[in-house]
Amino acid sequence: ESIEKGGYPHFMLKEIFEQPRSILDSMRGRLVAENTQLTMSSIREYANRFKNAERIIIVACGTSWHAGLVAEYMIEELARIPVEVEYASEFRYRNPIIREGDIVIAISQSGETADTLAALELAKSKGALIFGVCNVVGSSIARATDAGAYTHAGPEIGVASTKAFTAQVTVLTLISMMLAEMRGTIEASALRQLMMEMEQIPSKVEKALELDAEVQVISEIFKDATNFIYLGRGFNFPVALEGALKLKEISYIHAEGYPAAEMKHGPIALIDENMPVVVIATKDSSYEKVVSNIQEVRARKGRVIAIVTEGDTVIPQMAEFVIEVPSTHEALVPLISVIPLQLLSYHIAVLRGCNVDQPRNLAKSVTVE
Ligand code: AGP
Repeated sequence: ESIEKGGYPHFMLKEIFEQPRSILDSMRGRLVAENTQLTMSSIREYANRFKNAERIIIVACGTSWHAGLVAEYMIEELARIPVEVEYASEFRYRNPIIREGDIVIAISQSGETADTLAALELAKSKGALIFGVCNVVGSSIARATDAGAYTHAGPEIGVASTKAFTAQVTVLTLISMMLAEMRGTIEASALRQLMMEMEQIPSKVEKALELDAEVQVISEIFKDATNFIYLGRGFNFPVALEGALKLKEISYIHAEGYPAAEMKHGPIALIDENMPVVVIATKDSSYEKVVSNIQEVRARKGRVIAIVTEGDTVIPQMAEFVIEVPSTHEALVPLISVIPLQLLSYHIAVLRGCNVDQPRNLAKSVTVE
C-alpha cells in the first residue's frame, strides 16, 4: 500500500498533488488553444441537440453536485442555456418535469452512485438525452448514458473527492466552451483567450500546491475549532460548499458553506471571536462585494482566513490570515481556489488524528439509497 501511495502518507494527499497532472489528462486531446480547437466527439455527435437545448438539468450527489453548480454558472455565462442543478436523490422522487429539448447531464466520479443512476434512468424514461461525466470507465452510469465524456483523473482512492472534482470541472468547462462556440454566444477572441487560460491551469494549480506549508501552519491554529463557515460568491460559491464538505467529511468539524451575501440572512448570528470564516475572495466581478462581507465578519470579531488573488493589497489589511493563489479567468478560478481548501481540510484532519482516507460512516461510492 505504501508503494501505491507513492511516498505520500495518505491517498488523499497524493491525489491532491496529482491534480496538475490529472487536470492535464482531462484536457488532453480535447483542447488546443493555439488553433482554437475543442474536440469532444460525444458532444459533436449530438451537436444539434446541444445547439438547440432549451435547458440542461444536471443531476449528481456530493462533490459531483458541487462540480455541477460550477457548471451551471459556466454554461449559463458562456453558452446562455438555462441550467438547473439537482440533487439526484430529490430529483428521482419528485416526478420532475422534463421537456423535449432538455438535456440531462449526470456527473459521478464512481459511476455507481445509486441515486444518480436512478435519476438518469428516470430522465431517460421521459425521453431526455442523457450525457454522463464519469471517472470510472465502464461504470454503471457510464453504460446507462446516451453519450458522455470521461474525466480521466485516474483512480481516486481517498473517500474525500479531490482530483475527481477538478477533473469534472475541467471537462464541464470544455463542454461549456464548446456549447458557447456552437451557439455563437462567445466572441472568437474571448474564446481563444479563455482556452489559453485553461491551458495554464495545470501550472497554476502546481503553484497553488506550493502553499502547502503555509496552509499547514494555519491548520495548526484552527485544528481545535468546533465550527467553520465558508463563504464565496459567483463561481466561488460552489467552492465554499466544497471546502466545507471536505472539512466535515474528514475532520468531523461542523462546517457550513454559504453564498457570502446570504450570511446576513442568518449565519451572521453565529459569528463571534471563536468562529473561523474562510472567505474565497479572489479578484473577480464580485470582489468588492466580498470585501464588504469580510468587513461584516471582522466587525463581529470573526477570524477571517481569506483566499485571495496574488498581489491583493486590500484584503491583507483586514483578514487575519491570507492565502494567495495565482490569478486566472474568473470562470476558471474554482480549479485554483479549491486547492488550499483541500489542503486545509487534509491538514486539520491529520492534526486531529482522523482517518483521512477512510473517514467514519462514509463509503467511496454510495451504491445504496
Ligand atoms: C466527496 O468527497 C464525497 N465522498 C461524496 O460526496 C461523493 O462526491 C458523492 O457520494 C458522489 O459520488 P460520485 O461522484 O461517485 O457519484
